[in-house]
Amino acid sequence: MMTGQELSKARRYEEIKEREISPEKRPLFHLSARTGWMNDPNGFSFYGGEYHLFYQYYPYKPKWGPMHWGHAVSHDFVTWQYKPAVLAPDTPSDCEGCFSGSAVTLDDGRHMIMYTGVLGEDGDSGKNIQVQCLAFGDGNDYEKYSGNPVLTIADLPEEMSNYDFRDPKMNREEDGTYTCVVCGCTKDRDGRTLFFRSDNGINWKFEGVLATNGKRFGTVWECLDFFMLDGKAVLLCSPMEMLKTEKYSSGNGTLCLIGEFDKENSRLIDEYDAPIDNGIDFYATQTLLTSDGRRIMIAWMQNWDALQNEIEGFRWFGQLTLPRELSIRDGKLYQQPVRELEKYRKSRIAYKDVHVSEKTELPGIFGRTMDISLKIRSENTGYQTFEIRIAENEEFHTSIIYNRNKHEITLDRSLSGTRKAVVNTRTFITEEYGEEMNLRMILDRYSLELFVNNGEQTATITLYTDLSADRISFQADGYAVMEIESYILGMPEETEE
Ligand code: FRU
Repeated sequence: MMTGQELSKARRYEEIKEREISPEKRPLFHLSARTGWMNDPNGFSFYGGEYHLFYQYYPYKPKWGPMHWGHAVSHDFVTWQYKPAVLAPDTPSDCEGCFSGSAVTLDDGRHMIMYTGVLGEDGDSGKNIQVQCLAFGDGNDYEKYSGNPVLTIADLPEEMSNYDFRDPKMNREEDGTYTCVVCGCTKDRDGRTLFFRSDNGINWKFEGVLATNGKRFGTVWECLDFFMLDGKAVLLCSPMEMLKTEKYSSGNGTLCLIGEFDKENSRLIDEYDAPIDNGIDFYATQTLLTSDGRRIMIAWMQNWDALQNEIEGFRWFGQLTLPRELSIRDGKLYQQPVRELEKYRKSRIAYKDVHVSEKTELPGIFGRTMDISLKIRSENTGYQTFEIRIAENEEFHTSIIYNRNKHEITLDRSLSGTRKAVVNTRTFITEEYGEEMNLRMILDRYSLELFVNNGEQTATITLYTDLSADRISFQADGYAVMEIESYILGMPEETEE
């Protein structure tokens, strides 16, 4: 396979630059940009015996630039190994960038990527022209299809806008055919989920509009993903320009719609909506289905509205979340860290009946790579707020504050050492948990992923506090009783192959 000049240049560059980043300056088990910039996860798939994860990538600076596709592989979703970048913007169909897309395995055994090619700006509007392109590969190298682009705006109904046509997410159906959802919108930027079918993965046909925003959730819905889960139809997407409501934050958000699939008309009849994650740093989800039937989701662990790029002392920007197992319970989306993480748990420490009022630290419970589960009950006169501080030292900390009366959780990293006036606090409504609520926190050096009530809600933030701030403390403004189980996360002594 021929590697074009742009891609060869990127591959040489990333190989050299990666060596200049010490492993301690990265998360331990969350994938970060090999060098430079990373945004959306792409092409998340199982191929040739491993999980493949590609990502939106600009190797040359920790800033968004002409998009390439970076690449990494894993056997267990936790330990990732970088591979050479696979796409660079170097053909007439993608000369301004290779935007987000997905991957499937073809019948002939090839791995196929569908991605958005950006062609440049349309004179009058100054907006990007976007088309869908293919590339075929073997898990290492990918050759762009000579027939690119395979989908253009000409394939869409009249009322669709000429812009914002991107992020194809393919699926293989049980009968061997292919389906694909692609982001589109009307001329007044109302999001549409465009639904396509193909018999061979190469020739695609527009089937209809799977879901219509109708100005309910922001404007354009980026990074769509559509699948069946536990008998329900699920659409995940990342709406732009959300309006703040009690349930949603403003700006770029995430949304899950759950309902029924009207197969005949290729339409989702949605019955339920919720943010996928309630934290600050979460966007652009993508899922895969494992051979044991688990639907696993990953996302960009940043958000356009809260970018603190160019973090002092870091040569890379952008991390992906820990992959999460999805399920539907009582019509809602539940998320759990992938079970493979359990193999990385060490040094278990557990305490029962810890009475918390004044600020309390517990022997052995500190660190920046941790898996901590808590059950919090109220006692006697009870409490109103329960606060957990992580990444704490004399100067800095990040707080998780549960307000039991208001049924709210607040994440606050304004004292985490950030020098950026971006969004640093976020509050979201929880269910009413009565006397007991449970939390699981996954800490990996520069991030926290919080799972509330067995994954009924999640909230994700990054924090770039110096690693020497590693204390964890608990306090309540009344009486709380806590049960805690804590593990240090680290590499297993012997990795089973
Ligand atoms: C979402 C997004 C996608 C696009 C990509 C470009 O974060 O805007 O819609 O394909 O990023 O990098």
